[in-house]
Amino acid sequence: MNINILGIESSCDDTSAAVISDGILLSNVIAGQKVHENYGGVVPELASRAHQENIVPVVAEAIRQAGISKNDISAIAFTRGPGLLGSLLVGTSFAKGLSMALGIPLVDVNHLHAHVLAHFIKKSENDPVPQFPFICLLVSGGNSQIVLARSYCDMEILGKTIDDAAGEAFDKCAKVMGLPYPGGPHIDRLAAMGDAKRFRFSKPRIPGLDYSFSGLKTSFLYTLRDELKTDPEFIEKNKADLAASLQSIIIEILMDKLEKAVKIHPEVKSIAIGGGVSANSGMRKAVESFCQKNGLKAWIPERAFTTDNAAMVAIAGYFKYLNQDFCPLSSPPYSRVTI
Ligand code: KG4
Repeated sequence: MNINILGIESSCDDTSAAVISDGILLSNVIAGQKVHENYGGVVPELASRAHQENIVPVVAEAIRQAGISKNDISAIAFTRGPGLLGSLLVGTSFAKGLSMALGIPLVDVNHLHAHVLAHFIKKSENDPVPQFPFICLLVSGGNSQIVLARSYCDMEILGKTIDDAAGEAFDKCAKVMGLPYPGGPHIDRLAAMGDAKRFRFSKPRIPGLDYSFSGLKTSFLYTLRDELKTDPEFIEKNKADLAASLQSIIIEILMDKLEKAVKIHPEVKSIAIGGGVSANSGMRKAVESFCQKNGLKAWIPERAFTTDNAAMVAIAGYFKYLNQDFCPLSSPPYSRVTI
């Protein structure tokens, strides 16, 4: 009998469902939410409502694409947190209702764990996966962390942001430039056409392996404010160079601490990246070239698995299912939690 895990993700503004069978991905359906574009960021109230609209068709489609029936599902894995509480409640309540209706176990998944375990999503039996221990640079709109993964369930945060996440730095600076939300992909696209050495923004001096991005945001804002005084067309004329310089300093900040972490943990032979910002072309290149220079193996995820998706929730749930690590129906979602 196959172990079929239905994964459900609803932590922020993507409603997603996926089916993993004996560790192999059968389907991964994602419904994004365009409703936030006009607001320059995710509006929690609107996100919950859109999840309510999307959850039933998304789950039905994931089961259909997997070519199984709902009675073939062995367990339901759902994102319990961290995330927006109203959004999490939709996925959590749906998962509980379906698990009761089908009489199958429920598996709760930590969203950050799932981002790290996204590297274990296989499309076929022979797909390679990382060896433990490895370091994962987890960078998204809400998190920037260096995670040491010792096993599927043993992970330690070596460093994290003390203020903004790297994705927030991309998005907030992009907003100042008048770019749409989320700004990260727009900065990435413009950066490819710009000169990364043209502007130099300030770099934080934070001890240890922690990050800080709020000073960089202020430095970017002040540069633009000062230049606009003498040239109102400054942003328009320098868009590509601003984007390239911003992207380059964010990557420099991320890589500095990653290099430090690798020195402290010589037992680590592989570096993985995850989270929305790991879709960034410059960051992917920087990690690949760092690994090449240092004899390390780089694990760069497929772009579809960098942003929020249920495939990573289903694979994380699969490993917990193998350990019979289930969660009671009374478990509430949590908005804040660490690995
Ligand atoms: O992991 P994710 O989908 O969800 C959150 O944690 O919110 O990450 C979203 C973040 C946003 O800040 C977005 O701007 C950023 O990932 N992002 C990128 C790129 N694609 C998405 N940042 C830089 N370059 C990209 N290509």
